[in-house]
Amino acid sequence: MSVPDISTREIVMRVFVTGASGWIGSAAVDELIAAGHEVTGLARSSASAEALRAKGAHVLRGDLDDLDALRTGADAAAAVLHLANKHDFTDPAVSNSAERTAVQAFGAALAGSGRPFLLAAGVAGLTEGRPATEVDPSPFHGPDSPRGGAENLALEFVERGVHTVSLRFAPTVHGAGDHGFVAHLTAIARRKGVAGYPGDGTNRWSAVHRSDAARLVVASLAKAPAGTLVHAVAEEGVPTRTIAEAIGRAHDLPVRSIAREEVAGHFGWIGAFFGMDLSASSSRTRELLGWTPTGPTLVEDIDAGGYPG
Ligand SMILES: NC(=O)c1ccc[n+]([C@@H]2O[C@H](COP(=O)([O-])OP(=O)(O)OC[C@H]3O[C@@H](n4cnc5c(N)ncnc54)[C@H](OP(=O)(O)O)[C@@H]3O)[C@@H](O)[C@H]2O)c1
Repeated sequence: MSVPDISTREIVMRVFVTGASGWIGSAAVDELIAAGHEVTGLARSSASAEALRAKGAHVLRGDLDDLDALRTGADAAAAVLHLANKHDFTDPAVSNSAERTAVQAFGAALAGSGRPFLLAAGVAGLTEGRPATEVDPSPFHGPDSPRGGAENLALEFVERGVHTVSLRFAPTVHGAGDHGFVAHLTAIARRKGVAGYPGDGTNRWSAVHRSDAARLVVASLAKAPAGTLVHAVAEEGVPTRTIAEAIGRAHDLPVRSIAREEVAGHFGWIGAFFGMDLSASSSRTRELLGWTPTGPTLVEDIDAGGYPG
């Protein structure tokens, strides 16, 4: 009887994780540990360090701006999963610059090693008028572009022997306890006494449950070829009006259209995202990685009280 070959990446690995204490990162760490991987998480606070140790992960204390810490983490690992982000949405240049600098440091540390480098990305701005797919390249290059052009920068490292995989997450990675975009929209709705949607509310947001996103991270680490653009997307597009209606239902608030010219004033910084069509498909990802999302939908999570506001 012949023994089937296995890819070396199906063997357990030492994985260095930035953002390991975050919404996606903490779920990904759980999945990595459950799959037998040894995790070291970057932690900038005692609270984050303690939470990681409690899960059985190792801790490397440091900040995203501490490039020596990033290099130390990468040097000691067989793979890097980069999920940290400063998320300064009122001054995106701060987050974008830190993101680009961190990705540059990881690229230099991993060059020539063939080791996996998985980094977080998004689906915003990839296409107009149709859902983004895994073959749509990011149009963002350079430090002044969204996320500092980090996806394209990281993909350039493939030629230098880095096994880059971009994890493009839907704009809402949802679930109970989420403090991301939908939580922010809920807080705005409660504060303003109305669950608003932009214009006619037909622009759509893709969505994925956190548990499905975390399983996809582990599958990507094991199986995604270098240069793969992975779409962490379970629902291709939920109309923004449907999202507002669910928030209104959950909080007993009226639901109404916000005129396009009032979107920025009403929603603040998140208006730029809520006004966009952020639909995306994941059919190639599902086929390539054998990934099938099974978690609740976004509306099911909102209806279940996952967004107390
Ligand atoms: N959640 C979504 O819906 C979504 C959608 C699309 C893309 N993404 C991307 O996916 C990635 C993970 O998102 P998330 O929702 O898990 O984010 P999150 O919950 O806000 O977590 C951010 C993580 O980054 C860490 N961090 C922030 N500033 C840092 C700094 N200066 N030094 C070191 N660590 C720092 C945080 O550490 P502390 O615990 O110490 O604060 C935390 O672990 C991000 O790149 C995000 O932009 C997320």
